[in-house]
Amino acid sequence: MSRHAGRALRMAYLVSSVAGVGFFILSVVLLGYWPKRVLDAQTRAMGPEALLPLTASEQRGRAIYAREGCAYCHTQQVRFVEADQTRFGRPTQAWESRFDYPHLLGTRRIGPDLSRVGGTRSDDWHFTHFFAPRSVVRQSVMPAYPRLFDGAPDRPRQQARDLVAYLNTLGRARELAGPEGEARAREGCNCADDEMMQMGFHGPLNPHPARTQRSREEPVLPADGDRARGDALFSTLCASCHGRRGEGDGPGGAGLHPAPTMLADHEFTRAGVARVLWNGVAGTAMPAWRDYPASDLAALVTTVRALHVEAPAAEAPLALMAQGAETFRLHCVQCHGERGDGTGSAADSLAVAPADFTQKRPSLGRAITTLRRGIPGTPMAPWTSRLSEAEVVAVSHYVRTFYAGDSGAPAR
Ligand code: HEC
Ligand code: HEC
Ligand code: HEC
Repeated sequence: MSRHAGRALRMAYLVSSVAGVGFFILSVVLLGYWPKRVLDAQTRAMGPEALLPLTASEQRGRAIYAREGCAYCHTQQVRFVEADQTRFGRPTQAWESRFDYPHLLGTRRIGPDLSRVGGTRSDDWHFTHFFAPRSVVRQSVMPAYPRLFDGAPDRPRQQARDLVAYLNTLGRARELAGPEGEARAREGCNCADDEMMQMGFHGPLNPHPARTQRSREEPVLPADGDRARGDALFSTLCASCHGRRGEGDGPGGAGLHPAPTMLADHEFTRAGVARVLWNGVAGTAMPAWRDYPASDLAALVTTVRALHVEAPAAEAPLALMAQGAETFRLHCVQCHGERGDGTGSAADSLAVAPADFTQKRPSLGRAITTLRRGIPGTPMAPWTSRLSEAEVVAVSHYVRTFYAGDSGAPAR
């Protein structure tokens, strides 16, 4: 072997180690540093100038979410695929999780994606669900977290409150950014048409099917719902809260304020029930069921109406009616409206909409009880300190006269 060849061979170690280190640096730059720069720039360009930071309680809730392993079953990322977009809304953009460090995106979906769950369900629903998931969602496989409570779903410890506060922030950044935020994101993205399509800047931001809305929107349903199908659906979806016979005694109802309606004590119009199923009852734990097919909703309408238990006829003398009308005019119209349809002048400012007596008729007993006790968790207060017993009875008779039945014409 010549001396030259020997030297070149000894140099080979040097050359390969320099090349090795060089390639290592190159790959760090190409696969780590460079994409981060591009992403940072895109995040800056697409996101709003400032994000609302998490409060102390929300931060603690986030830590509990991480500690309890919620991310093993729940993702927080709506992907750019159609199935995700129809179920959960617009795909998650990088800037939305700017504060999310370490991130909780998750990889497995045993439960639904939670990135838009904020504002979808009421706090008392969440508490009941954490305390005992199967008391509200009969077939749930989610574990229970009773240690976050003092023995009952309506006695949440601070930890449960923090967790729910955190859940209510999910999706908030995007909501707060509003249409201007969407416009800025679209502009900042500045990407090719097909990429833009994927970014999903169309469609509703959060179409969560259980999200309640204050709306009179009514689905188009077949006129006759299948009773057997309705009964089966009711026992899987509704009985957990409303009770098997609609007596408001389901296990999930115990911690809810307002409590589930005693369906047996009410007559409902077809349209009234359809509307409730479509929109839920905003401000309460009653979810919307928009994702069920029209035939299932129609079946549920039939079942709900059939739960009504006929009470003895409640005829009232005319003098009593006049007194009821007067009491109603003095004390109730600002919320329930002159025509009893829940459109009083104060209605829009209330957390829960006033009852619409044209679409549902409580039994006389139920109306009297409501006036005596109010409905805890809603603006409907007890009236015994302001009305005499005679006035309570009179106005209870009176509110029943607004009911229009399916014909739409009040009985009066
Ligand atoms: C073993 C898997 C599992 C774990 C762990 C888990 N969940 Fe769930 N979760 C589910 C499933 C399945 C559902 C759907 C059924 C239901 O609503 O109970 C669900 C539903 C939910 C919902 C209702 C979502 C909606 O849009 O209807 C919320 C909120 C939720 N989970 C939060 C949490 C939080 C917070 C934790 C951690 C404290 C957690 N989950 C832990 C499986 C899980
Ligand atoms: C998580 C518990 C829960 C589940 C599950 C639930 N409800 Fe309710 N529901 C409520 C609560 C709470 C209210 C009371 C709202 C109020 O006081 O305004 C309510 C109210 C109602 C009302 C009356 C609304 C009104 O205008 O007075 C109807 C009808 C109804 N639910 C039907 C159903 C049907 C049908 C199902 C199943 C598909 C169902 N609910 C499932 C909790 C639930
Ligand atoms: C501050 C507004 C407000 C005033 C004033 C008010 N209500 Fe209500 N009322 C409500 C709300 C909100 C609900 C619905 C609560 C719910 O969904 O659970 C309600 C529900 C009811 C119900 C229950 C219907 C059912 O489904 O069983 C009756 C009965 C009723 N009100 C009668 C009256 C009468 C009579 C008066 C006057 C003496 C009156 N309310 C005054 C807000 C009001």
